Amino acid sequence: MKIFFNKKKLIKEIQNTENLGFVPTMGALHKGHLSLIKKSKKLSEKTIVSIFVNKPQFNNKNDFKKYPRSIKKDINLLKKNKINYLYLPSVKEIYPQGKNKKIKISKWKKILCGKNRKGHFEAVVDVVDRFIKIIKPKKIYLGEKDFQQFAIIREFIIKNKIKTKPIICPTIREKNGIAFSSRNHLLNKKEKTIAANVYKILSKNRNKMLKNNFYIKKIKKNLLSIGVKKIDYLEVFDTKKILNEKFKKKKFKIFLAYYIKKVRLIDNF
Ligand code: PAJ
Repeated sequence: MKIFFNKKKLIKEIQNTENLGFVPTMGALHKGHLSLIKKSKKLSEKTIVSIFVNKPQFNNKNDFKKYPRSIKKDINLLKKNKINYLYLPSVKEIYPQGKNKKIKISKWKKILCGKNRKGHFEAVVDVVDRFIKIIKPKKIYLGEKDFQQFAIIREFIIKNKIKTKPIICPTIREKNGIAFSSRNHLLNKKEKTIAANVYKILSKNRNKMLKNNFYIKKIKKNLLSIGVKKIDYLEVFDTKKILNEKFKKKKFKIFLAYYIKKVRLIDNF
């Protein structure tokens, strides 16, 4: 595994790789990330992973500060998983002239995480666009756990006729049902049990919630009574509306964003 801190050197190394798979991450790697890497190793000739905690996409300073970082562990894990390249850029490398303020995702602003996290998706698209321009991968691997993020990046790629194909990879869960997330590191044992119970309640009542809006209210109350501090949203969406095309696995999905203590978690079912 070759590690790059500098885009000039990286571009020189990869410019002739035709079938390059790219897995963008913010580190604190877990089995969710590893599943994207495995998929890339299967479908792409070579795999590049990036680790970059992208400050502009955080809505508050504290969330950015507290975001888990474990770079040494991450490097060892990636070495073990035999990827070809790891890109660890500095802020200056990615933002030599600051943010791109022209990125617009208006249609998405009003729903789900777009409502509660002002500027978040613009910043995600901006950084992914910057990485794609440097790496020029044939495929980019993204997780279904962040379904709205996938949809927004995909739409941006299509709109701008970028020659990178977005590939969606299924959500990987811990034994107790919680979706792997770097933010899970911020939960203690008791709080993890709350998250596991949230999963249990949601998966048990999925069909009821899809059929009848009344259950959404009921489940919200239920979640707040088992230790969930706040719910940003619990909503049913037609995935076609979000993706602009049929999602082969599920027509309707339930989307959830909630807080345990100060930790914000998202999931979809
Ligand atoms: P991060 O949260 O590190 O996630 C990197 C990728 O891993 C994303 O595509 C995410 O959807 C996927 N992922 C996370 N948890 C997963 C799980 N349990 N199962 C499957 N896939 C999972 O998402 C970001 O970083 C950033 O917004 C980024 C795209 C890197 C831009 O900064």
